[in-house]
Amino acid sequence: MGAASQGAQVRRAAVIGSGVMGAGIAAHLANAGMSVLLLDIPPSALTDGEIKAGRTLEDAAVRNRLSISAVQKLASSQPPALYDTAFIQRITPGNLEDDLPKLAQTDWIIEAVVERLDVKQDVLARVESVWRPGTMVSSNTSGLSVAAMVEGRGEAFKRHFAATHFFNPPRHMKLVEVVPAPDTDPDITARLTAVCEWRLGKGVVRAKDTPNFIANRIGTYGMLVTIAAMRRFGLTVDEVDALTGPAMGRPKTATFRMLDLVGLDTLLHVIDNVRERSDNKEEQEAFARPPDLEALRKLGWIGEKAGQGFYRKIKRAGGGSD
Ligand code: NAI
Repeated sequence: MGAASQGAQVRRAAVIGSGVMGAGIAAHLANAGMSVLLLDIPPSALTDGEIKAGRTLEDAAVRNRLSISAVQKLASSQPPALYDTAFIQRITPGNLEDDLPKLAQTDWIIEAVVERLDVKQDVLARVESVWRPGTMVSSNTSGLSVAAMVEGRGEAFKRHFAATHFFNPPRHMKLVEVVPAPDTDPDITARLTAVCEWRLGKGVVRAKDTPNFIANRIGTYGMLVTIAAMRRFGLTVDEVDALTGPAMGRPKTATFRMLDLVGLDTLLHVIDNVRERSDNKEEQEAFARPPDLEALRKLGWIGEKAGQGFYRKIKRAGGGSD
């Protein structure tokens, strides 16, 4: 079968985790004509820790709804000639508890939950309980061990699993890193590559299963060096963004704008992942948690998704924000 027809095989997809990335990936898949099941945690499944941290059941419900409204926002911002507005109807929201059996009817399941190995392992164990051979399963991890995510899963499931790492925002960013684990069937790697390239219009780079793969290993390091330089030279957030944004022809991806978009909680998980898995002292030091990020995280100012990060998100009358 040719690569284009391999890509055409995916009609029904599922995305687990409807946060910053999951909602964006679901929208992108729906735009490409797939029907998408978008699942998150059921509102009743909050942990004691989450409740103590101030998250209520309503918050969780609102988060699910907000993710879907974010998808609707994407629909209205797309050029009409390229995107049909009916695409939103191809996305069915739900939760992993009630809708788990529906995963058995999909061709491709993408896990995009929080960047924690234990949570991803738990989600994938649940996926395996209803999974049927032939369905591809991939993780959007930023750089956790792909092999570790499926430790304890059956051989057949492992053969169907790899990472497909989309970048933020998924509809604009061309790159997808496809990362097979040692047990991944080469045919699955080829099929995932074909779907990303031929159906989703992405440029695929094959990466090895090393901490943070390729782009994030370099990109995160660059951000950490920039933050350290800011402190050393006494620069402000605005000054760093002026220098690393418009001055470099990147108006929307200046350092701190980018950090707010990514989410400081996610970035800290990514930094920890390299530091904890590295046996190189220099690298461990380079990937220490910057105190500035840690301070904001403690305040709950973790970026756009919280309404406040380095910048505050201000709603404009027309529904836009800054
Ligand atoms: P997020 O924090 O915005 O969303 C995570 C979602 O997962 C939340 O809606 C949460 O309720 C849900 N979730 C948590 N536990 C769950 C469970 N047990 N079952 C179902 N849903 C659950 O995080 P974000 O940024 O969307 O990241 C998701 C993944 O994508 C992570 O692995 C992250 O490293 C990766 N990623 C993030 C990028 C970014 O720029 N934020 C870029 C590329 C990859």
